[in-house]
Amino acid sequence: MESITLLQDKKILLGVTGSIACYKAVDLASKLTQAGAQVDVIMTEAAQRFVTPLAFRSVTGRPVFGNMWDLDDHVRHVGLGETADLLLIAPATANTLAKLAQGAADNLLTVTALAARCPLLIAPAMDGGMYSHPATQANLSLLQARGAIVAGPAAGRMASGLMGKGRMVEPAELLAHIRLTLARNGPLAGLKVVVSTGPTREPMDPVRFISNRSTGKQGLAVAQAALDAGAAVTLVAGPISELTPFGAQVIAVETTQQMAEAVLTAVQDADALFMVAAVADFRPGNTSDRKIKKTETNDWGLAIGLEVTLDILSAVKEQREKSGYPRVSLGFAAETHDAFEYGRQKLLRKGLNLIAVNDVLAEGAGFAVDTNRVVLLSSAGVLEEMPLLSKTAVAERLVHHVAKALGR
Ligand code: CTP
Repeated sequence: MESITLLQDKKILLGVTGSIACYKAVDLASKLTQAGAQVDVIMTEAAQRFVTPLAFRSVTGRPVFGNMWDLDDHVRHVGLGETADLLLIAPATANTLAKLAQGAADNLLTVTALAARCPLLIAPAMDGGMYSHPATQANLSLLQARGAIVAGPAAGRMASGLMGKGRMVEPAELLAHIRLTLARNGPLAGLKVVVSTGPTREPMDPVRFISNRSTGKQGLAVAQAALDAGAAVTLVAGPISELTPFGAQVIAVETTQQMAEAVLTAVQDADALFMVAAVADFRPGNTSDRKIKKTETNDWGLAIGLEVTLDILSAVKEQREKSGYPRVSLGFAAETHDAFEYGRQKLLRKGLNLIAVNDVLAEGAGFAVDTNRVVLLSSAGVLEEMPLLSKTAVAERLVHHVAKALGR
């Protein structure tokens, strides 16, 4: 797993309680450690009946805490809670939820939870009947009212063999919850960011279209980086097959016209726009609402007769001149030659604060690869000439510059 800047050196206290989902918590601890976090695990006695402390120690490379009375340090519970960036309890049983709701402190985990001042994220895991019991629901509501974040539980097959709601959410989804929670005080906290990504598609008939090679990777990376910086993100996505980041509000579009409408609406109250999409510049001038038959001779023979599509950024520019939104606008320039000069002209023509110019023919840059090489320009000239970087790293650099432009 690629290390995640947001998680790098973050101190995560993972409380594990007695549920069969403990085995998933080992995977989660491993994922967090690989992503760069420092994971300290506290296990209840019941948890230790499902998996051993050694399993966690093996993936985190750190001591695992269990019995409160075995500790060499008499204020360990305060120490662990005080230095943590996040207390995550996964899996959290109905019993532990009840104790947390009441402020009971009868084992190292519940004592630590009382002493901790960091955000609390809880992933419940229990049988469906226990989860839906009014007592458990009341305990969860109380914890949420006090600021705890509850992830799941998910519906599916339970240990009892029955189907129901009570399964702990999967480690990958928990990781996404952790990212969102840790991002809350980031440089873009409280701000709205709109990101466009992917290609657009222009239909000829119900089965054919013209489009381009964009896969949406760079825009998705920008959306994730903006989420990691604490922004509320609206992602306007053309047809892509990659997963969209957890926490983004996704608006799926197909044509340039649909993307234009979605972007123009979303930026009305946005602090920043990252226009990363590879918008189709042309669309068929002749279209048919029925499949065009190979043998069919129609009015226009085989000529597609291209038309130029709407330039979305120019429309944003016009709207922005009246409304002032988005406050900051960043575009991309995909070039195959004279990249710098074309980029500079596009920045001015499209009314952008910043433009990320990339030579799509350069090695390691462009469509469908995980890396990119970008030069960032402002109206004052070159702001940063980036080396070949992962699209994730490029996205983080761009978000950093936009945060600066927003005075963060
Ligand atoms: N863009 C847009 N609307 C379009 C085409 C492009 O908003 N119809 C945006 C892209 O999302 C990008 C920027 O404009 O942020 C530059 O896109 P690019 O394809 O490099 O430039 P074009 O304007 O299409 O110009 P050209 O094809 O002549 O290079």
